[in-house]
Amino acid sequence: MKKSITYVCSECGCVHDRWQGKCRECGSWDSLVETVNEPAPAKKTAQTKTSGVRQSVELSKMKFDANEEKRSSTGISELDRALGGGIVRSSVTLLSGEPGIGKSTLLLQICSCMTEQKILYVTGEESAAQIKLRAKRLGIERDNIFLLCETDIDSILSEINELSPDILIIDSVQTMVDRSLSSSPGSVAQVNRTAASLISASKQSKMATILVGHVNKDGVIAGPKLLEHMVDVVLYFEGERSQSCRVIRAIKNRYGSTNEIGLFEMTDTGLEEVPDPSKRLWEDSPKNVSGSCPVCLMEGTRPIIAEVQALITKSPFNTPKRLSTGVDYNRMSILLAVLEKRLGLKFYDKDVYLNVIGGLRFDETATDLGIITAIISCIRDIKLDGGTIAIGEVGLSGECRAINSMDLRIKEAARLGFERILMPKRAIDRLKIKPSGIKLVPIRSVYDLINAIDEKRGE
Ligand code: TYD
Ligand code: MG
Repeated sequence: MKKSITYVCSECGCVHDRWQGKCRECGSWDSLVETVNEPAPAKKTAQTKTSGVRQSVELSKMKFDANEEKRSSTGISELDRALGGGIVRSSVTLLSGEPGIGKSTLLLQICSCMTEQKILYVTGEESAAQIKLRAKRLGIERDNIFLLCETDIDSILSEINELSPDILIIDSVQTMVDRSLSSSPGSVAQVNRTAASLISASKQSKMATILVGHVNKDGVIAGPKLLEHMVDVVLYFEGERSQSCRVIRAIKNRYGSTNEIGLFEMTDTGLEEVPDPSKRLWEDSPKNVSGSCPVCLMEGTRPIIAEVQALITKSPFNTPKRLSTGVDYNRMSILLAVLEKRLGLKFYDKDVYLNVIGGLRFDETATDLGIITAIISCIRDIKLDGGTIAIGEVGLSGECRAINSMDLRIKEAARLGFERILMPKRAIDRLKIKPSGIKLVPIRSVYDLINAIDEKRGE
């Protein structure tokens, strides 16, 4: 077979025969990259078939080597939590996030914490002097960290062979090149080929590999989606760059659950763990202001108290503005529609802004009641007293619905000193043990909510 040229979409990996401005699969513009396909090596004839040797193994008779799944702690417990208990030997992890969010900082901190391991840090983005400077600033002084400023994959592989490190860090996979391909670094073909080489090296030499992946403007990992399928663990490092809070979230994990998140704060001395997120997020919140309500969300097994803020102003535009940070835009529209229909509140001439403090994201409907409380509190200018929290889902008829893990959420609210919980009546009925020292206010629908907010205004 001769070399052939195809055009591959750098967003979704769809292959086209000729160049065109828009990808027919994902609809993105100017994303097709010319790719030279190398002829595949001649196929070996399947000898095993003729010799009659079966290659599949019966699962129950397979030997299990516990060492294969051996986890080592990264020394950063919030990261361990997101990874499901530590980094697994010969696993490949993809760490992605926006530029400047702190990926390189986190990786250098891992280097300093994993004192037992031999680490090879390959950088294709920064010079050795830059890394050294940062390491000095972060106070990293231990031995056994090897730095390699290289982008050529063959040189990197030979260095891996020579050094046989326990941990390999590649910062970033988009800068790596395989010289046998003519396409430029970061193209679909290059990312695929170099990642595949690194993954097979990782499996062969049983080292844990962390690949840094860039994200594009929409926040998804740049390059082929295939990359996410190839690796064992995909971590997203998120947060508002203007704020100091950072969240690490597993999107895929072949060795554990993807529910847990890790929380960090960016300081002058690098990333610091936030072991008690509820306290950190709730402590600095202004109390006794209208348009703000604490809620409790579950991040994996951990309840976290966060604050949602609403700001509603008269719109100077024909089409009012709706903006939400941390709350799904469609969810906000639904909740506004429920309030318009059920309580007769008017939003058609008002701008609505919603914001979740600390860079968290609400993925649960358990935060509905809190969002609605913040909106009502703002539009009617009622200050809630600081001791009230709202937990529950709101349906389209304005009814308040029970949610899961209510016991854990109540416990967390009590721990932080809340005095009153606005929660679904059904959830209160279902509680086996009624908590003492905290008042549970039953809410059947948004009508009850209005009364509950009115009943105890903050002064
Ligand atoms: P970096 O790890 O270089 O980001 P990435 O590799 O994801 O692109 O982080 C750079 C940002 O982090 C930079 O804007 C400054 C900030 N930072 C601190 O605030 N404190 C620190 O101690 C360090 C090392 C970085
Ligand atoms: Mg970096």
